Amino acid sequence: MGLMTDLSALSHESRRFEPPAELAASANVTAEAYEQSNKDRLAFWETQADRLLWDRRWDEVLDWQPPFASWFVGGRLNASVNCLDRHVDNGLGDRVAYHFVGEPGDTRTITYAELLKEVSKAANALTELGVEAGDRVCIYLPLIPEAAIAMLACARIGAAHSVVFGGFSAQALIDRIQDANAKVVITADGGYRRGAPSALKPAVDEAVAQCPSVTSVLVVKRTNQEVAWSDKDIWWEDVVDRQPDTHQAEAFDAEQPLFLLYTSGTTGKPKGILHTTGGYLTQVAYTHWAVFDLKAETDVYWCTADVGWVTGHSYSVYGPLANGATSVLYEGTPDAGGKDRWWQIVEQYGVTILYTAPTAIRTFMKWGDDLPGSRDLTSLRVLGSVGEPINPEAWIWYRDVIGGGRCPIVDTWWQTETGAMMISPLPGVTSCKPGSAMGPLPGISVDVCNDAGKSTSAGFLTLNEPWPAMLRGIWNDEARFRETYWSRFEGRYFAGDGAKWDEDHVLWLLGRVDDVMNVSGHRISTTEVESALVSHPSVAEAAVVGANDATTGQAIVAFVTLKSAAVDDGEALLKALREHVAKEIGPIAKPRTILITPELPKTRSGKIMRRLLRDVAEGREMGDVTTLADPTVVNAINEKMGTSSGED
Ligand code: PRX
Repeated sequence: MGLMTDLSALSHESRRFEPPAELAASANVTAEAYEQSNKDRLAFWETQADRLLWDRRWDEVLDWQPPFASWFVGGRLNASVNCLDRHVDNGLGDRVAYHFVGEPGDTRTITYAELLKEVSKAANALTELGVEAGDRVCIYLPLIPEAAIAMLACARIGAAHSVVFGGFSAQALIDRIQDANAKVVITADGGYRRGAPSALKPAVDEAVAQCPSVTSVLVVKRTNQEVAWSDKDIWWEDVVDRQPDTHQAEAFDAEQPLFLLYTSGTTGKPKGILHTTGGYLTQVAYTHWAVFDLKAETDVYWCTADVGWVTGHSYSVYGPLANGATSVLYEGTPDAGGKDRWWQIVEQYGVTILYTAPTAIRTFMKWGDDLPGSRDLTSLRVLGSVGEPINPEAWIWYRDVIGGGRCPIVDTWWQTETGAMMISPLPGVTSCKPGSAMGPLPGISVDVCNDAGKSTSAGFLTLNEPWPAMLRGIWNDEARFRETYWSRFEGRYFAGDGAKWDEDHVLWLLGRVDDVMNVSGHRISTTEVESALVSHPSVAEAAVVGANDATTGQAIVAFVTLKSAAVDDGEALLKALREHVAKEIGPIAKPRTILITPELPKTRSGKIMRRLLRDVAEGREMGDVTTLADPTVVNAINEKMGTSSGED
């Protein structure tokens, strides 16, 4: 959707929802936090850094040489110790860290003491395999406890992990392993997806054959399916289980790389977003505690994101564990074992805080009120949303049907690059407008500006002060780091999103203003899908746009022209093209609709006019076509659109 269309659609929300009085009365954070951080932002973040255990205190809170920041300079700490040892040392070893729920119904309860032992064993195993501080380890796992254990084991020995979402293809894995030069891959035979085991190892086998940097592949047994075996492969149980269950962790510099997480940009090549230790952990711990009003002794917290995405990193692993929280970890899809599976889990574990994505909420809306209605959801007290704009209708439904009208909703805006939440209400403070993330959190500074970089009420979202969890760079690509985030507006981070202040100085996020799509809260670049399509032998050219979709936020729509020798055998070709994209990137990138057209609309200079294609994809009259080199192309596309079934 174009920025301007959004602006008018969202400008008149006048409903307000006050924080529940009871929650406000005992809230972790009050309005004072804004005053404190406004008075002295750096002092505010120092106070938050004191939530952590430091082996050596920092000498300087921030060294800012735009666009490079160092936070808590000279400080030393270990992220894994902060998430585990210190809680056990504080007598909280018996507290549950994770209630794991597998898709087939298997469960596992892991206390902090047990998690520490598992992580220690895994850290010892990685050391035995030759992994050292500063190395990279690729993690390609289902959402099982070993994913968190592997991440924390890497952190413990100072190696950076690069988690690759299990839905990505062998090719995507190759690109990421090679870019990071990863030494070890941690994977599983498979995971459970919609009631059936789904393999992971074959993609790793294919990838490792092309990645000489990988010396060992650790394989967790999850599904017991048949797997091919090479001399680099080792079963997790064979090497981890025999290790000592203690491990003396070393403290690392605050700026020690903690992880790389690859995300889509506006070109075909994914970017390895680099996060470091001290600042990242400070901000994820603070925001997890403040935004969810976490009471670690009593809350049962559930973030539904997969660890393959940044939300899983910051709010399923590092944030909750740094805070000593009890979390639910659920492997499967929302409809595995029944469309009320989530609500059954909420009821069974007495979940008090739920953090999920608008796509899921809209899907549940479609499934009907009866499913959540048949379960006891009265344990819930705070509801979170993340990943895409939440439309007011979904917000209200979430509040009424899931939250029983009692629970505040925190709509949290942030990105892989920001590492932690940036814009969000505080549940005990903010009077919320449905569909708005309201405003920057304490310690965070945003500016909405126009093309010329001047502050304005509607335009581009920028972050005009450094923040502790900010990305420290793009792995091996300083030029791209500067160009992507820091070149458009001098000295300021450009987020790629449009935003608007309304008449009450409330902030509305308006979606991406670049060629990045957001499908079910997953970031996919149009160029990435286009290059996947043109790598198919039948395709001459491809243009991809994100079209509004009632459930997934955006859906991928591809316009494709064929090579003259190619045969258009209708559905068979469309299916082949979708499968090809799944193979090149992953099933999440499969276009919802593919339209074979004789030509693409281009300007006289040869630029594809995506704006027109977006109009077509969203069923609108096409806008201005006067700049087209050949205006008749439009008629041909429209005709095609009228006759296409297009969807899976
Ligand atoms: O467009 C914004 C959207 O998701 C993008 C970041 O995607 P990713 O790095 O994958 O991280 C997603 C999880 C943090 C942003 O540029 N986005 C994320 N949260 C919101 C959002 N858009 C509107 N409202 C949100 N709460």
